[in-house]
Order: sequence, then structure tokens, then C-alpha cells
Amino acid sequence: MKAEMSTRTVVAGTGHYVPPRVVTNRDLEKLMDTSDEWIRERSGILERHHVDDGVGTSDLAVEAARRAIADAGIDPATIDLIVAATLSPDHYFPGIGVQVQAKLGLGPIGAIDVRNQCSGFIYALSVADQYIRAGTCKRVLLVAAEVQSSNLDFSDRGRDMSVLFGDGAGAVVLEPNEDGGGRGVLSTHLFADGNFVPQLWMEKPSPRDRPTFQTAFFDEGRFFPKMDGRQVFVNACQRMPEAVRAALAANGLAIEDVDHLIPHQANDRISLMVAKGLRIPVEKVVRNIDRFGNTTAASIPIALDEAVKAGRIRPGDLVALTAFGSGFTWAAALIRW
Ligand code: ACO
Repeated sequence: MKAEMSTRTVVAGTGHYVPPRVVTNRDLEKLMDTSDEWIRERSGILERHHVDDGVGTSDLAVEAARRAIADAGIDPATIDLIVAATLSPDHYFPGIGVQVQAKLGLGPIGAIDVRNQCSGFIYALSVADQYIRAGTCKRVLLVAAEVQSSNLDFSDRGRDMSVLFGDGAGAVVLEPNEDGGGRGVLSTHLFADGNFVPQLWMEKPSPRDRPTFQTAFFDEGRFFPKMDGRQVFVNACQRMPEAVRAALAANGLAIEDVDHLIPHQANDRISLMVAKGLRIPVEKVVRNIDRFGNTTAASIPIALDEAVKAGRIRPGDLVALTAFGSGFTWAAALIRW
């Protein structure tokens, strides 16, 4: 999906929000047979944020959206589309896009929900990018948010998953680049292989079961997310570099041209393997999983916002995004900042 027209999608503002409650590895030691050392060595995570009871994904998304809107300095009434990415909507249906719209007090604009898990932000960016480049929309609010902590198995049975994930949200305001310059999204590249559905999924609830909600499923832990860690590791380390290479090739660019690589913060060992696979200096890789854990769709926009606000990403820089997750799905995008 390479931009053929002169209009490109630019990021006019960024924002992120995480709930205030910090959960350290030591806190998790009290709940299950794990250790700070194991979690640090295997994932690079030191702490993550968890919501308190009653706080949902749309609440985090709205806070991140408000910050991105303020950063862009725009009137929210001028937003003409919402694209929302999450695997943890407040409700089985509808998605969070409409809740974000209502909580921000926006008019009856469209609200699209994207369900691509850890690849959700880049998939959602590709959707928003098409609307802007086609001239259909002038200002898109893209939010990615997750509340994972309320459905993780904090017993020994679920320790491989539950230590990894955190709650949080990131958002960007997207607009057309009207000045005809080179700034903006150069291209987005989406991939999927549905043969790997059971390797990273939340199997239940499923409407295939009658009734959908069965006590036996609870007892068997089948309402919790599950992962084949080895398959995820091997595929993530292979697929993210492939996606970045595809994006670079599509734009006639080389890895040396990339100023910042923002991989989905799945696991710091995966991020380091992706850097190694691409032969990109680790100093160019944005890594913040130590403080947030894996926030799934929200991890890239949180990292992006931090890097921009820290002055690390500057005008003219080439930013590469890449993600891998449940599906399996994977993706990459290049942005000239
Ligand atoms: N604390 C302590 N021990 C743990 C924990 C924990 N939280 N979780 C698992 N273990 C134990 C396992 O039970 C196992 O014990 P055993 O040897 O007695 O059976 C041992 O640690 C090894 O665990 P494995 O995961 O099986 O590790 P393995 O040596 O097979 O290596 C690998 C696999 C590649 C390290 C893999 O587990 C891994 O790290 N995968 C990455 C998955 C990941 O980070 N996904 C990110 C989320 S998904 C996404 O965002 C795309």
C-alpha cells in the first residue's frame, strides 16, 4: 500500500496514558511462583501498570486521545473519523471506537474498530492512511488501548503470560500533508498467516459453543489468553525484520536510512533479536517495555509518544514501525517525521 499520490498522512499530535497503579515484579512474586530475576532476564520487564476495578479500555483510550488532541492543538470537533485498535474492548460488542466518540463529545462521525491485537496500531494506521490519502477524511483520531490485567491468570498456571502484559493507551491525530513536502507516512505493509491462530489466542468465549459461557471452560482456564512461547518468539524475530525490509524496499531505502526503529514492545529479547536481524544499531531502537510491559496494540504509540516528547524523534527523521502478534499478524510502516 504505497502512497501514489502527493498527499501523505502526517502525525499532527501524539499522546499516551497509563493507569497510575504500578505493579512490580516483586508484587507478582506474591501471587505466583515467579521471580524478579526470571522476568527481567526473559522479558526485560521491571514493572507494568494495571487499572483498578471499574476502569475500562475506553477510559484509557479517551485520556490518551485527549493528550494527542491537545498536543496537535486542534479543535476536537474537526475530527472526522475515529479508528480504534484493541483486543480488550469494554464489551464483547460494540467496540471502543463509539465509546471514545461519546466520551469526547464528538459528533456522529464514523468509528472503526480494528481487531489485530499486537499489530493493531499499524493495521489501524494503514486504515486511517487510506482515508486521508484518498481525501475522504481530513483529520483522523487513531487510538490504541488495552486493559489486559483483568483477564490474566495470576496463578502458577498462567505465569508465562501474566507477567508480560500491562495496561495502557496511545493515540495520534492524523492529517493530510498539504504542503506537498516529503513528510508523512511513506507506506504501510500488512501480513497475516491464520494457520497460527491457536499459537496466541484467547480461545473462549466462542459463539460456536452452546451455551457460549460454560463453567467447565472457566475451570480449565480457557477464558485466559494462551501462547506457545517458542512459536511466538521464533516467528516474531523472523517476521518483524521481514516486514521492515519490505517497507524499505518499497521506498528504495536501506536500513542505514532508518533513524528510529519502534518495534511492538512484545518482549525486550524479541526487540533485540529484531535489531540484530536487521543489523540496526541498538541505540536506534526505541525500547520502553521495562516500565510498561507488553501493552499489545498500545505499545507502539506509547513508545512513539515518549520518543517524540523526549526530543529523540526530530523533523526529517525516518521512523520505522513494526509489529507482530496474534493471528499471526505482522506489519511495518515508514514515517518521514
Ligand atoms: N516465572 C518463572 N518461571 C516461568 C515463568 C515465570 N513467569 N513462566 C514460565 N516459566 C517457566 C516454565 O514453566 C518453564 O519451566 P520448566 O522448564 O520447569 O517447564 C521454564 O520457565 C521455561 O519456560 P519456556 O517459556 O518454556 O522457555 P523455553 O526455554 O522453552 O524458551 C522462549 C522459550 C523462547 C524463551 C519463550 O518462552 C519466550 O520467551 N517467548 C516469548 C514470548 C513472548 O514474549 N511473547 C510476547 C507476548 S506475545 C506478543 O506480543 C507477540
